[in-house]
Amino acid sequence: MLSQEYYELKEIVDNHILDFMPEIDTKTNTLFEAMKYSLLAGGKRIRPILMLTFFKIASNNKMDISFAIPYAEAIEYIQTYSLIHDDLPAMDNDDYRRGKLTNHKVFGEDIAILAGDGLLSAAYEIMLKDSLLYLTDSDLLKRKVKASFELSKGTGVRGMIQGQVADVENEAKSCTAELLEFIDANKTGAFIKSSILVGCYLGGATKELLEDATVYGESLGHAFQIVDDIMDVISTKEERGKNVGGDATNEKNTYPSIYGIEESKKQALKLLEKAENSVSKYNANQVALDIVAYLKEQII
Ligand code: IPE
Ligand code: IPE
Ligand code: MG
Ligand code: MG
Ligand code: MG
Repeated sequence: MLSQEYYELKEIVDNHILDFMPEIDTKTNTLFEAMKYSLLAGGKRIRPILMLTFFKIASNNKMDISFAIPYAEAIEYIQTYSLIHDDLPAMDNDDYRRGKLTNHKVFGEDIAILAGDGLLSAAYEIMLKDSLLYLTDSDLLKRKVKASFELSKGTGVRGMIQGQVADVENEAKSCTAELLEFIDANKTGAFIKSSILVGCYLGGATKELLEDATVYGESLGHAFQIVDDIMDVISTKEERGKNVGGDATNEKNTYPSIYGIEESKKQALKLLEKAENSVSKYNANQVALDIVAYLKEQII
């Protein structure tokens, strides 16, 4: 059961998700329609919600949430772009996402690629435009720059993108435990961890919180991909809003394919315990615990 606070944060993210979008632009309408289609298709918004939660923990609930909202929007734009590209025929070749046809099935591959590009560059436009408002306040500007840099690393070539490359390059190949950790930590863990650290930087986190949030982010991020891979085997399309069984079709290296379902569940639960313990001492940690509980519920 997710708490009321979780749903309040989700509502904030949903209410601001189109802030960047123009009302209407006749020459490039298809681009914005395609971007909006995937943004509004019903994502869980877990990464921006995590960011806002850690922003609240870091600032002891004393800062206005509006300070972090552009970053919530930017994070969800990057998440949405990554899914549009992940679903392309050249990548995982999926027809359903967030309960709807994938972007390329509706708009064609050319527009889907460009809508992904558009969402990615919009994320940086949003963060930099927001940072410009703080040019005369060096402390707050520093927080914004650190947060943007963190997100660029986690989702960039030393994070999510290199993980995605290792994922597709190693389809149908034998895989060591070390390579599997590398794939999961980068394609999924790095973005989740950096979203959490974005919240920490924006909220002025202590060194101790930054360390605990890193442990939380790494453990949760790893567990998140293991649970996703388990669900690809044991769940249904209706439940997930996306096709199941694709990992086997694409001969992906996953925890279930290497260790089996039961051992994968055991490992995911161990990581989720670790995540839980790392934030138990903080006030305002309810949503961080909610997300751990949500993942646990799926596999027990
Ligand atoms: C899907 O992430 C991609 C993975 C890392 C498994 P989510 O499960 O958070 O997808 P949305 O954003 O809610 O659609
Ligand atoms: C990683 O994993 C997704 C991204 C990093 C974008 P998957 O390929 O397993 O994600 P789903 O199952 O398609 O959502
Ligand atoms: Mg993939
Ligand atoms: Mg995929
Ligand atoms: Mg998957």
